Amino acid sequence: MTAPRRSRTDEPADPRGLALLDWYDRHRRVLPWRALPGQRPDPYHVWLSEIMLQQTTVETVKPYFAKFLALWPDIRALAAADDQAVLSAWAGLGYYARARNLIACARAVAARPGAAFPETEEGLRALPGIGAYTAAAIAAIAFDEPAVVIDGNIERVITRLEAIETPLPRAKAEIADVLRPMVPAGRPGDFAQALMDLGSGICRPRNPDCLLCPFRSNCKAAANGRATAFPVKPARKGKPVRHGTAYLVRDGAGRILLGTRPAKGLLAGMAEVPNTGWAEIAPPDSPPVPADWMRRNAPVIHVFTHFELRLIVAEARLAGEMPPPPGLRWVAQADLAGEPLPTLFRKVIEAV
Ligand code: ADE
Repeated sequence: MTAPRRSRTDEPADPRGLALLDWYDRHRRVLPWRALPGQRPDPYHVWLSEIMLQQTTVETVKPYFAKFLALWPDIRALAAADDQAVLSAWAGLGYYARARNLIACARAVAARPGAAFPETEEGLRALPGIGAYTAAAIAAIAFDEPAVVIDGNIERVITRLEAIETPLPRAKAEIADVLRPMVPAGRPGDFAQALMDLGSGICRPRNPDCLLCPFRSNCKAAANGRATAFPVKPARKGKPVRHGTAYLVRDGAGRILLGTRPAKGLLAGMAEVPNTGWAEIAPPDSPPVPADWMRRNAPVIHVFTHFELRLIVAEARLAGEMPPPPGLRWVAQADLAGEPLPTLFRKVIEAV
């Protein structure tokens, strides 16, 4: 048995926590898994909804939640269910590993005394499929443990409230430091859900409704008209790099050997300097003619939309003239301007 809910007189150190609860008491969403005011939440409902919400939206989850409760009204029923029936009912929610963990978790809980969920973050965390966020959310919402719950909505609210410039995910520690003294000791579950509702309804990613926000007089980002500048996203990772070799050969008349790219794909149908193609690991050497090839140290670097290309240029000079290898042609320097040579290969030619 859990203790009765503590009273509102347990005030948080940070009064913004209470301002948020006042807003929540007027504007809370009614959700199928959420206890009504004054009612105790059912841990089974809280757990099931949190697992389902890990991968999709509130609106998508609602019919699945109803179907699961109709089929398996409590944790013992779910634990006794046929695996295939659970997987079928889950179909459409994605990631079957989650459904498998759901079954394993139901069985682990059903095997506990009274088929009761652990009530602490630590105890919950030890169950299959329950990570740090989910353990904190269930501990707070189902058991009013003063857990610090941080999901994407909450990250947005708090980074705006304090104008936290540290990019995610590094900002998480700062977000937790802001939240900890805000959690009202008597209503941690309502506090977490209030932040979720605020993040989804008011403190929206693109067009937040700052005028309706209970934090409007405290929000450092909104005070400077910069709400949507937060959270600061991590710098985009550099593009993947691909490597290859291009072979620039001139014959005795100063002509350059060129080819034509395949009709499909990158730079389709354009002219090219013969090359190995390119990949994450440089493809093997494949010179178009036997010659004394010299490799330049500095690669030609060219940035495409989806990757950066580093082409090593190998150069050779033939003493006389020879017929071109199949599919290639000799092009006089004066005729280069008329060739459909993309910038990449013009750079290769100019590098030498
Ligand atoms: N998203 C994840 N958990 C939620 C909850 N308990 N209420 C609303 N949105 C949520």
